[in-house]
Amino acid sequence: MSDIKVAVIGAGQVGGTCAQRILERRLADVALIDIAEGLARGKALDLSQAAATEGYDLKIEGGSDYSLIKGSEAVIVTAGLTRKPGMTREDLLSQNAKIVKGIIDSIKKYCPEAIIIMVTNPLDIMTYLAYKVSGFEKERVFGMAGVLDSARFRFFIAERLKVPPAEVEAFVLGGHGDSMVPLVGHTKVKGRPIDEFLSDYEIDSLVKRTRDGGAEIVSLLKTGSAFYAPSSAVCEMLESVLKDKNEVLPVSAYLERQYGLEDVYCGVPARLGSDGVEEVVEFDLSADELAALHRSAKQVREGIDYLKKSHLI
Ligand code: APR
Repeated sequence: MSDIKVAVIGAGQVGGTCAQRILERRLADVALIDIAEGLARGKALDLSQAAATEGYDLKIEGGSDYSLIKGSEAVIVTAGLTRKPGMTREDLLSQNAKIVKGIIDSIKKYCPEAIIIMVTNPLDIMTYLAYKVSGFEKERVFGMAGVLDSARFRFFIAERLKVPPAEVEAFVLGGHGDSMVPLVGHTKVKGRPIDEFLSDYEIDSLVKRTRDGGAEIVSLLKTGSAFYAPSSAVCEMLESVLKDKNEVLPVSAYLERQYGLEDVYCGVPARLGSDGVEEVVEFDLSADELAALHRSAKQVREGIDYLKKSHLI
């Protein structure tokens, strides 16, 4: 048992693996919720039975009843549908918006003081929706995308240069998806600028592979999408919050004029601590990087406008 509790909504691939990582990192007790009650209960029971061999003394409960999340300091929202053949982007957007709205209502009811970390795609739009529907302070609602995209970019660079990924620093900003903005100018290997190691052409090809990183995994898995690296990225953010580490990470955060953007969620560097987004950090961006960030935010805004027109916000 811990005196810290975290709720994970959605006990699918990402949610189940998040629960596992939270326990294995000894971060908190876990409440795992899914509309498919048996899935959440079954995974919770399975994870409880790993406690003896993994050596964690933490409680994990699962089910479909939201009263289980009561008392959680943070809620990670992974529930939603993934895009099926024949489904348009707009279909996915409206259906996940309906799911997320229902979940946020339950969070408001059972843990009105919690921090919400959104994972459900389309990420930046779902995070905006969660912020508006919850009525929580902007600091307490943010989304995971950039840590994952940056981790992918760091891995591809590390693999190419045969160095440990931990020796590669990189920030990927912008919306999650095709419009992500890798900051090549801020990318370093062993503290040295990346262009000392790789040509522009080589960097471009690693940027492209990062941009297509999710799709590459989908095409290999055939069913479902990535979950090991996504859940790891979520836990990196969660740990910075629960331990008040104040790490600067790329986070989908609410913008109020930072980077010249307003009333939109978009991936930017942010300091994560016990209050959530403690500060949006303004890096010096090149004119091209800033323009790419604005293009990316424009796409997010189009999704938000669609939800507004459909009366879902
Ligand atoms: N309430 C609770 N759980 C729900 C609801 C709901 N209203 N609707 C769906 N779910 C659950 C499903 O039952 C399923 O178990 O959400 C879970 C989603 O799990 P997966 O289908 O395995 O999807 P996953 O790979 O975990 O991805 C979840 O994270 O990275 C994003 O794009 C991804 O939006 C997707 C989300």
